[in-house]
Amino acid sequence: MEKLQLNNEVSLSRIVQGLWRLTSWKMSPQEIVEFVYQCIDLGVTSFDTAEIYGNYEAEAKFGEALKLDPSLRSKIEIITKTGINMKSVKRDYRIGHYDTSYDKIIASCKKSIELMNCDYLDVYLIHREDPLINHQEVARALNDLKSMGLIKSYGVSNFDPFKFEAIQHFTQNQLVTNQIEISPLCFEHYNSGLMDVLQKHQVHPMIWSPLAGGSIFTSDDPKIVRVRNVIADIANRHHEEMDTIVYAWLLKHPTKGLPISGSGKIERLKHAVRALDVELSLEEWYEIYTASQEQELR
Ligand SMILES: NC(=O)c1ccc[n+]([C@@H]2O[C@H](COP(=O)([O-])OP(=O)(O)OC[C@H]3O[C@@H](n4cnc5c(N)ncnc54)[C@H](OP(=O)(O)O)[C@@H]3O)[C@@H](O)[C@H]2O)c1
Repeated sequence: MEKLQLNNEVSLSRIVQGLWRLTSWKMSPQEIVEFVYQCIDLGVTSFDTAEIYGNYEAEAKFGEALKLDPSLRSKIEIITKTGINMKSVKRDYRIGHYDTSYDKIIASCKKSIELMNCDYLDVYLIHREDPLINHQEVARALNDLKSMGLIKSYGVSNFDPFKFEAIQHFTQNQLVTNQIEISPLCFEHYNSGLMDVLQKHQVHPMIWSPLAGGSIFTSDDPKIVRVRNVIADIANRHHEEMDTIVYAWLLKHPTKGLPISGSGKIERLKHAVRALDVELSLEEWYEIYTASQEQELR
């Protein structure tokens, strides 16, 4: 499996395994350990989570597996995120809100490391754009965490081009990724110019909900059925699974994105990995790009 070097210390597998839905997979710690080894066997060594996933329980759940088999830590890369105070029975917030203050970032990072029994994080992300963000303070917090040896690199998630540029300025170009949503149903970042800003900074995006959370395969919405039919046609031509074709479509972009597979089924991760060997023609890429009819070629 190809690994992408994000900075001097961190490289991630080109396909990443997502852990957002981990708590719904109902796996025991031993089963998570086995799942992680199956991922590693496929070359998928990078795992993405967040403080708030699983109603604040996903990191601890993953941490139970790392406690059971501490030797796993050196075989994988861990990405997690901070900056959202989600309303939850686990937290006494009156309303959900963002918090990207210096103290919150430092405290959350230490807590994530404790919960995951992992000593350090490979990539630490600011989860969402915060209208109250103080870019200079966030940069200071992230740099301090790096100096403390608690994180090896940092980045952002869901940042538009302007906010990305602002924090990139204060970090002196240290951001290693912007984790964003892209799929044959989601084009926001093509249209905002973000993909171009990322190329300018030679930053690889991580790509969340690559299969639109599974809706590409399950929805009856006529727009989505149209997209599904186009993908099915291309899959037939290549003698591949439909999800493999979606991953191949994502991988073709010159930003060299890292799709995050959200399935808890190892067979579906195998389909994602296969995409690294599938080359779509330009015409096929544009067939998918225009299938929803949300993107028009002028
Ligand atoms: N930064 C952010 O704001 C953000 C937001 C959302 C997610 N993320 C990250 O991105 C990762 C991936 O997101 P995602 O989980 O939405 O990704 P996804 O891969 O688009 O969706 C995964 C879902 O699709 C289902 N699925 C996959 N193939 C299917 C098929 N052929 N038929 C029916 N259902 C199918 C899976 O079910 P099975 O498990 O049954 O296969 C799972 O529920 C997350 O785990 C998280 O790490 C980040």
